Amino acid sequence: MPKVVIQSLENGPNLVLIDGKAGPAFCRCGQSSKKPFCDGTHRKVEFKAAAASTTILS
Ligand code: FES
Repeated sequence: MPKVVIQSLENGPNLVLIDGKAGPAFCRCGQSSKKPFCDGTHRKVEFKAAAASTTILS
């Protein structure tokens, strides 16, 4: 079974890591025009949030 980790980047999106490889980045600022994916708008809106990491499969 692959190891799947959701890494919330500081002031940025939720990045999905599958067996250590970066997958899609999901918006968590709510301002992306390409939801559910991050389009970089979090920088323009100066989104602030702490970093975190959660393993959902291992
Ligand atoms: S987190 Fe990047 S656009 Fe929302």
